[in-house]
Amino acid sequence: MAWKTLDDMDLDGKRVLTRVDINVPVEDGRVTDATRIERICATVQDILNRGGKPVLLAHFGRPKGTHNPEFSLQPLIPTLEAVLGAPVVFAADCVGPAAQAVVDALQPGQVALLENTRFHAGEEKNDAGLAAQMAELGDVYCNDAFSAAHRAHASTEGLAHLLPACAGRLMQAELSALESALGAPERPVLAVVGGAKVSTKLDLLGNLVEKVDMLVIGGGMANTFLAAQGIDVGKSLCEHDMAPTAREIVDKAKAAGCEIILPGDVVVAREFKAGAANETVAADACPADAMILDAGPESVKTVQAAIERAKTLIWNGPLGAFEIEPFDTATNAAAKYAAKRSAGGKLVSVAGGGDTVSALNKAGASEDFTYISTAGGAFLEWMEGKVLPGVAALETDDEDA
Ligand code: 3PG
Ligand code: MG
Repeated sequence: MAWKTLDDMDLDGKRVLTRVDINVPVEDGRVTDATRIERICATVQDILNRGGKPVLLAHFGRPKGTHNPEFSLQPLIPTLEAVLGAPVVFAADCVGPAAQAVVDALQPGQVALLENTRFHAGEEKNDAGLAAQMAELGDVYCNDAFSAAHRAHASTEGLAHLLPACAGRLMQAELSALESALGAPERPVLAVVGGAKVSTKLDLLGNLVEKVDMLVIGGGMANTFLAAQGIDVGKSLCEHDMAPTAREIVDKAKAAGCEIILPGDVVVAREFKAGAANETVAADACPADAMILDAGPESVKTVQAAIERAKTLIWNGPLGAFEIEPFDTATNAAAKYAAKRSAGGKLVSVAGGGDTVSALNKAGASEDFTYISTAGGAFLEWMEGKVLPGVAALETDDEDA
C-alpha cells in the first residue's frame, strides 16, 4: 500500500482542497476541545509555507443532507484562526458560486473554509456529481481527515479519484502511529472498550475478541453484559434486547481464548447527577430503584492488574459516567495507571475517540499515553482490520509514492 504525501505534490500557487475533520465538541457556541483543530495545523501550515492555498472541506455533526444552520462551521472560525495563526475566509456553501467566489479571491497566507459538506445530501451518498463540483474548486486534493476515513463520502472518497491526491500530515501520522503500535502488537494485548451502547460497537467487540488476549468491558455496555447473565441491573442504562448478542460475544471470546473482564463491584446512585448520593455494591446487587454509574474499587483493581499483565493497551470508551463526578473515579484510576505503565516503558498504549480523549485529558493521563488518535469510529474500524475507504482512495500503484 502506498500513497502520496504533501512532499510529492507541487503546491506553489495551487488551490489545495483539503479534507479535514474539525468535528469538535461545541457548547453554547464555544469549542470545548480544540484537539482536532490543533492536529490539522501541520498540514495547513505546510501548504501555506509552500505557497499553496488551503481550501478546507469539512463536515460538522449530522445535519442529514439539509442546510441546518445549527450545524454551520462558521462558529469555529475564531478557534481556527487562533490555532492556525492565519486569517480564515468563510464560504456559505461547499460548492457552487459562493464557494467559487471565495476560492477565486483567496490571497496568499489566507485559508478558505467551506460550509458543512453534509448540508448536501450527495455528501453521504458519495454522489459523483457533488464530488465533481467540489473538484472544480481545487488543483490538488489532500485528505487529512483520518477520523472520517471510515466514511465513503463525496469529500472523503469520491473526490480523491478526481484530482491529484495525497495524504495530509495528520493522516500520515495517524496511520504510521497505529501501524507501529498495533500492526504487530506485543502480547498480551488488552482492549478496554466502554461507552453507552453495545449496539454501536457490536461488530467491533465480535472482531476484537479474536484479536486481543483480554477485553475489559466498561460503561453502559457492561450493564448489558451483566444483564445477559441474568443479573438484575435495576434502572441502569442497559440494552436488554442485545442480551443474545452479548452472550454470543462471550462465547466467541471463550473459543478464541480471550478473557472478558466485567465489573465485579459497581457504584450505584438513584439519580444521574454530579455529586449524587451513591454506594458501592457487588455487580449482582444493584438495588431495583438504582442505576450503575461507575465501576467499583475492586473492579478498578482487576482492571489495573490486567493493565499490569498487558504489553499493549487499546482504549476506546470510558468505564463509567465520567462526565459527572464522582463517577469518573474508575476511568481516572485506570487511565492514570495505564499512563504510569506507559511512562515507565512497560506498556504501549493507544487511545482514540472523542469521549476517551476528553476522559484521559481530564484524568491528566493523555501526555503519557504512547499515542492518542483523533479518531473514534475510524480508529475502531482500523483496529478491526477493515479497509477505510478514505485511505484506500488515496492508494496509488506507484511503488515509490
Ligand atoms: C467523528 O466525530 O467520529 C467523525 O467526525 C465522524 O463523524 P460521523 O460519525 O458523524 O461520521
Ligand atoms: Mg462519531
